[in-house]
Amino acid sequence: MKPVPFSLLKNCVNAARLSPTARNTQPLDFVIVNGGEQVQRMNEAVCFGGVVKQKGRKEGEEPKAFIAILANKEKSDEKYIGMDVGIAAEAIVLTAWEKGVGSCIQGAIERERIKGVLGIPNEFNVSLVVALGFPAEKPVVEKATKNLDYWIDKKGELHVPKRSLKEVLHKDRF
Ligand SMILES: Cc1cc2nc3c(=O)[nH]c(=O)nc-3n(C[C@H](O)[C@H](O)[C@H](O)COP(=O)(O)O)c2cc1C
Repeated sequence: MKPVPFSLLKNCVNAARLSPTARNTQPLDFVIVNGGEQVQRMNEAVCFGGVVKQKGRKEGEEPKAFIAILANKEKSDEKYIGMDVGIAAEAIVLTAWEKGVGSCIQGAIERERIKGVLGIPNEFNVSLVVALGFPAEKPVVEKATKNLDYWIDKKGELHVPKRSLKEVLHKDRF
């Protein structure tokens, strides 16, 4: 897998920096990890595909870069911090995808371990991590029935069930 250009990762963080935050408090900082041993350490501190049996990544197909989203504890409003972080994460995902770089938001992460790996000061929480790389797979989006678990078929293709537009969209009244 090709490495991710640092300039693209910087653009991702720039998009996150410019994203809206509640009351414009801008409580977020970001750490880019791109290549080398730090990437390996990050790969060991995240958990891919918690729902599927075949956890982890195939060798050589691990993410090549990470962006950690940090929330300043003092500036974080409990009511809105999750939303601020989510909006920033999506800005990163969309900016990367525009240039053909795939990503996966990571919430099931070893936060204390990541704090150590990245040397994060105590006044920050590690909220989310976005793993990035040029895609090694083409996930199939399919209409969900009852079960929303994503799954991997015999060919190794990832299937992601999504609730239909008809089911989730309500017009004028629920
Ligand atoms: C807040 C959040 C946390 C997530 N945490 C993880 C995670 O720890 N590990 C993982 O493999 N995927 C994680 N995901 C990715 C979701 O599993 C994925 O977005 C979902 O299965 C839908 O797939 P799609 O992104 O291809 O549409 C997370 C996504 C979000 C939004």
